[in-house]
Amino acid sequence: MELTPSALLRIEPQGWVVKVPAGVTLLAAAEAAGVVLPSSCRNGTCRACICPMIAGEVVYAIPWPGLSREEKQEGQVLPCVAHARGDVVLSVPGAVRF
Ligand code: FES
Repeated sequence: MELTPSALLRIEPQGWVVKVPAGVTLLAAAEAAGVVLPSSCRNGTCRACICPMIAGEVVYAIPWPGLSREEKQEGQVLPCVAHARGDVVLSVPGAVRF
């Protein structure tokens, strides 16, 4: 799995931008910056965190994240187990910032 050393995650529609260090999931990177995305299991099975990726590319920390092939093709991602491969833009209207 090839990871970008660090990348930026932008969360829309709020426009918040957080840094994503290498080896850190999108969910964890957002939380480290004070942005809480919907989540539950945090291991890629419950799908509570599923959201559309507007731009970018991700790789997964687990071989079978709980997404169908169709969902992946539509650009749906699971931020709790997704690592950025370059800058990423997600649509998460329910995100909250503290
Ligand atoms: S929090 Fe359960 S799949 Fe992401």
